[in-house]
Amino acid sequence: MKVSTFISFAKFGIKTILFKKKDSILGTIIVTDRCNLKCKHCSVNNISFVMYTYNQICVEMELLYNKGVRILFFCGGETFLWQDGKKTIRDLVIRAKKIGFLIVNVVTNGTFKIDLPEADLILLSLDGDRVHHNIIRGDTYDTIINNIKNATADNICLYMAINKINKDYVKDVCEVAKSLENVRAVSFNFHTPYPDTKELAISREEKEECCNVIKDMKKNGAPIFNLISAFPYIINNSFPRPCYQCLVIENGEISTCGRCINVSSLCNDCGYFFVAEYTLLFKGDLRIIFDMLKTYLKYI
Ligand SMILES: C[S@@+](CC[C@H](N)C(=O)[O-])C[C@H]1O[C@@H](n2cnc3c(N)ncnc32)[C@H](O)[C@@H]1O
Ligand code: SF4
Ligand code: SF4
Repeated sequence: MKVSTFISFAKFGIKTILFKKKDSILGTIIVTDRCNLKCKHCSVNNISFVMYTYNQICVEMELLYNKGVRILFFCGGETFLWQDGKKTIRDLVIRAKKIGFLIVNVVTNGTFKIDLPEADLILLSLDGDRVHHNIIRGDTYDTIINNIKNATADNICLYMAINKINKDYVKDVCEVAKSLENVRAVSFNFHTPYPDTKELAISREEKEECCNVIKDMKKNGAPIFNLISAFPYIINNSFPRPCYQCLVIENGEISTCGRCINVSSLCNDCGYFFVAEYTLLFKGDLRIIFDMLKTYLKYI
């Protein structure tokens, strides 16, 4: 991370904590909900089938930038399916950097060739060992590992959503993260049980077991992006929500925290680690602040 970027985030953090401000810093743009997969745990694919235009997404980027967002994520559906004429997700990342976003990340299922050196991080979903990943995501594991190995930059962060099917395979994903050159780190979330995927939710005890595995792996040198200091809040489901510093925009409609905010009572069972990490950070929790500084400066 550049020193100027770090200073800019530090200033934002200090202002937010001292004056209890609710300004945003993180934004996500949904570029399409089309997807080539139909993962068992996902409720947000292939609903409207719309591919938003380059111009519309540029307007949304400007809107978020003017609201103070400086860390931008592109998400879907599948982001690598996005295109408008000859423009691809790469053009969106380049445009975002030109507008002035300090960090630009892309979330992908990794089933397409990865040539996106301009992105700061490519969050690439890997949901367990080969068998359990494939149960959730179809027969894609080998293609994904191959795409990671052939990627043109080392800006990949694995992204695992832990649920009833793959909860015992956290260690496998940590080991892949450790072994592949192009992978910088791995980041975990717990399943957030939308009404149609409630059966995949994991219990408090299962969350605790997974967090213990993640903690041990991190202590043994696995490159893990999550903050151990937030684990007790995540296990006990006692972190504040929503996260006011995060915005999501889809088809011009802005939601605070996640688009899931519109799903009745879903926030009570939120499994997204970033919500715990950022809400606690911006409340001024000192352990989280130090943990975040240590972790983020290592991987971004
Ligand atoms: C919706 S996908 C979009 C990007 C891309 N198609 C992918 O799979 O990475 C973004 C991330 O959300 C995760 N996800 C989907 N549904 C979830 C849920 N109910 N709870 C937690 N994570 C979920 C996916 O596993 C993926 O890592
Ligand atoms: S690849 Fe991503 S968007 Fe597509 S179904 Fe799976 S989790 Fe959902
Ligand atoms: S707190 Fe609610 S809106 Fe925010 S990510 Fe969790 S479920 Fe979504």
